[in-house]
Amino acid sequence: MKEFKRTLVTAALPYANGGVHIGHLAGVYVPADIYARYLRLKNRPVLFVCGSDEHGVPITIRARKEGITPQQVVDRYHNIIKDSFRDFGISFDIYSRTSSATHRETASQFFKTLYDKGAFVEQESEQLYDEEAKTFLADRYITGECPHCHNERAYGDQCEKCGRDLSPTELINPKSAISGSTPVMKKTKHWYLPLNEHQEWLKKWILEDHKEWRANVYGQCKSWLDMDLKPRAVTRDLDWGIPVPVEGAEGKVLYVWFDAPIGYISNTRELLPETWETWWKSEDTRLIHFIGKDNIVFHCIVFPAMLKAEGSFILPDNVPSNEFLNLEDDKISTSRNWAVWLDEYLTDFPGKQDVLRYVLTANAPETKDNNFTWRDFQARNNNELVAVYGNFVNRALVLTKKYFDGKVPACGELTEADRAVIDEFKGVKDEVERLLEAFRFRDAQKEAMNLARIGNKYLADSEPWKVFKTDAERVKTILNIALQLVANLSIAFEPFLPFSSAKLRTMLGMNSVEWNRLGALDLLEAGHELGEAALLFEKIEDAVVEAQVQKLLDTKAANEAANYKADPVKPEVTFEDFEKLDIRTGMVLSCEKVKKADKLLCFSIDDGSGTPRTIVSGIAQYYQPEELVGKTVCFIANFPPRKLRGIDSQGMILSAVNADGSLCVITPQREVKPGSKVS
Ligand code: MF3
Ligand code: ZN
Repeated sequence: MKEFKRTLVTAALPYANGGVHIGHLAGVYVPADIYARYLRLKNRPVLFVCGSDEHGVPITIRARKEGITPQQVVDRYHNIIKDSFRDFGISFDIYSRTSSATHRETASQFFKTLYDKGAFVEQESEQLYDEEAKTFLADRYITGECPHCHNERAYGDQCEKCGRDLSPTELINPKSAISGSTPVMKKTKHWYLPLNEHQEWLKKWILEDHKEWRANVYGQCKSWLDMDLKPRAVTRDLDWGIPVPVEGAEGKVLYVWFDAPIGYISNTRELLPETWETWWKSEDTRLIHFIGKDNIVFHCIVFPAMLKAEGSFILPDNVPSNEFLNLEDDKISTSRNWAVWLDEYLTDFPGKQDVLRYVLTANAPETKDNNFTWRDFQARNNNELVAVYGNFVNRALVLTKKYFDGKVPACGELTEADRAVIDEFKGVKDEVERLLEAFRFRDAQKEAMNLARIGNKYLADSEPWKVFKTDAERVKTILNIALQLVANLSIAFEPFLPFSSAKLRTMLGMNSVEWNRLGALDLLEAGHELGEAALLFEKIEDAVVEAQVQKLLDTKAANEAANYKADPVKPEVTFEDFEKLDIRTGMVLSCEKVKKADKLLCFSIDDGSGTPRTIVSGIAQYYQPEELVGKTVCFIANFPPRKLRGIDSQGMILSAVNADGSLCVITPQREVKPGSKVS
């Protein structure tokens, strides 16, 4: 094993065209933060670097849509993202941005160095061009009909309705999103990074020398490296980004995926203008990239090829990438607003950063996609944080207050049971460390939680509240051990739940946290006075999570409404055809659920004939029976009677079908007599 002196931890730079959501947090920022905090606790030199990714086509599209400049877009989101990370306790040493002057200069210089070394190939190609707007068109800027599902608003790179990847030339009737004109093909020159020339060393470096990378990362790299890598364009025809710093490149900028990873370097340089090179250029620095799975190829293949071509930089030692987190069984999507946004969470759940941190780590999509549900969020809070961790801490502190005036009692002679508990938690430090070093955050946190379970069980088994009446000395030992365990918990959870650990230390009157003492039995001296006890976690009520679920349902409804398009009109009919239908109004006399049929309601209707008419209708999911009694409805009177669940139904009640498929009964807009004809 190589000896490393310092660790540079990077977290993928989020695009500054939207907020940060739980998918980003679970995939990248929470694990990266746990890791950085852990290394700091171990007193190992670490730098944790991130910032906003502020270039690229989607930002220009957003700006155009909102009638503002791309800079205004990124200014807005950069600040939202930066503040929400800070409030969530993501402990970056720097969070900067790729529109900074330092970055512009660093990225520009990087390109220039590669250019001067002859590391690129220049190539002309035909690209789609908007003759009216006089600009080349990124794939996203071309819209047209999807050849698969015939959605008329598909993009040149993807159809958001059927989810298929597209290329702009596949679109039926393609149009420029800028001017609406039909694009034409036009020649343009770009610079390419010839990945094919890097394939050999990449293969050895990853497939032979980094077999320890996570299976999902290694596997994705292998499938890339088993194919022939192709040159990748690193420049674009666009007016938002870092200008290509060579002659003859007017109107061209660096491709966002070329400049963004250099952002890790620029941000380090911005933080440490004198010493940044130690972090990027010395062999005894360990570079770790935390990313999501859609970033693997860029961090394992493209960026390393750039670094290697430059020549003076180190390569990543590991790239712990997570799979995706779904939300309530549906893919998280920014464009559909199907997400839990961090800034909204922080507003809706003030002071509960650690609950989300806990749940996201407990459900971390480390080896496969995973699912976040509000029910699970509530259950993990109530059954684990409150019932296990919080309950144990509370019992230990309250009993000490009650029996020993809030002073840590001395430990006396140990029983068999005491020794068993002590043995169990002595090993926790090595175990948590082993798991964290292997980037197994979920299991590591489970290990910490296990300490609390041990403590909870210890108190339940040793029953100090009963023993106290007969043997107060014995209770001293029990509570001493319990309190040492509580103090250990504040250390073990420090990388995972930093807010709660700090709170717990205040309650314990501990003023420092020393990771290396994790597992020790003398964290609190006998006689030490505890601080004020408070609840570490609180129960989350049903109504709270129901409100969050409702928020998501509202989003879904809004999306459906936004995508709603009326069905095409049916073939023509004659007036005579229409006249054959006898449509009438009727007053609902009574309405009941049909037994054993959850969709059916049975109506008795005054149709003006003097004899009530029975109609069975499939609207039970949309109405409570009593809601419709006394209302006037419209129905078709001359359908032949039909038996439904043994009831003779004489006609059909008319409803409008909503965008989401729900039904809405049609009623006349003024009062009319039962049996009036509708024409
Ligand atoms: N903005 C990219 C994304 O969200 C990640 C960029 S990572 C960097 O997918 F390395 F390029 F910075
Ligand atoms: Zn489609």
